[in-house]
Amino acid sequence: MLRKNAKIELIRSVPLFANCKKRELTRIAAAADIIEVPAGQPLVREGERLAREFMVIVDGEVEVRRRGRRVATLGPGGFFGEMALLARGPRRATVTTTAPSQLLVVTSGAFHDLLDSVPSLQMRVLRALAERLEATAL
Ligand code: CMP
Repeated sequence: MLRKNAKIELIRSVPLFANCKKRELTRIAAAADIIEVPAGQPLVREGERLAREFMVIVDGEVEVRRRGRRVATLGPGGFFGEMALLARGPRRATVTTTAPSQLLVVTSGAFHDLLDSVPSLQMRVLRALAERLEATAL
């Protein structure tokens, strides 16, 4: 378990949260867990209806597959899981680690709270959502 300050520093190092104020980082640290995952581990499965988590890659790499085809590879600073949480629908892709990874995991309720309270996060998630929706509409 990371000490609170170490956790805040780790979160601050993620580009998604780089512009956050100390107060916001503290809130994110309280809402998120850091997990270590080996390569080859499915984190989210396409079609799954019980979507509970939003994840941010601190370190490592994941592959995003939709209908069996790879649609993206995400590295440090990348995030996923926002689509099902925002749409309250099924997961649109399967996300699997392709390298040992360190991830920040935020549960659904905390994700919505963070979007309400951290405007810079809201904007970045919204932008990614728009791009991904276009890609998944094809
Ligand atoms: P969600 O549908 O909750 O779970 C699967 C996730 O994969 C999805 O949220 C997005 O975060 C991510 N995802 C889906 N399509 C793409 C894409 N084209 N590029 C990057 N990530 C994607």
